Amino acid sequence: MHGGARLIIVCGLPGSGKTTHAKLLESRLRAIRFSPDEWMDALSLDLYDEGRRERIEALQWKFARELLALGLTVIIEWGTWGRVERDTLRLGARALGAAVELHYLAAPADVLFDRIRRRDREHPPIEREQLLRWIEIFQAPTPEEMRLFDSPEAIS
Ligand SMILES: Nc1ncnc2c1ncn2[C@@H]1O[C@H](COP(=O)(O)OP(=O)(O)OP(=O)(O)O)[C@@H](O)[C@H]1O
Ligand SMILES: [Mg+2]
Repeated sequence: MHGGARLIIVCGLPGSGKTTHAKLLESRLRAIRFSPDEWMDALSLDLYDEGRRERIEALQWKFARELLALGLTVIIEWGTWGRVERDTLRLGARALGAAVELHYLAAPADVLFDRIRRRDREHPPIEREQLLRWIEIFQAPTPEEMRLFDSPEAIS
């Protein structure tokens, strides 16, 4: 039995394993998972369309807050590359009385690139140079930031 509203933020670069991890949590915790990529695919949108991605994430956040207000467990797997974005989710969920976990997934650049290439989802494919630029931009959570979150709930 799991208690109370809980937001789980799954954070990491492309290929870090967010969707794989989030799906596991989804089934084990009986949670609702929000992935912008899946909604974009379902709507036949270009995965590189950042404007539409932002609007989908805003819609998912609206639903997420409604579900948290009902006391449910919600998983957000948007990448959340920036500290400010994670702050907004954490504070928004806490304002609803929810616990908030941050699950950060990382892997070396070569591993990320290899997984992305094998998966072959993006058209045109993500180039190595582009991935290296993203690694530069990505704001990995610091230990100080991790301490602002709740400990992960034990999963059976
Ligand atoms: N821990 C892991 N070890 C080995 N392979 C993994 C691991 N996690 C994920 N993978 C594989 O790597 C690929 C990318 O994983 P996944 O789709 O979960 O990443 P993602 O972070 O959701 O990527 P994106 O941000 O592009 O959606 C998949 O083919 C998946 O099977
Ligand atoms: Mg994914």
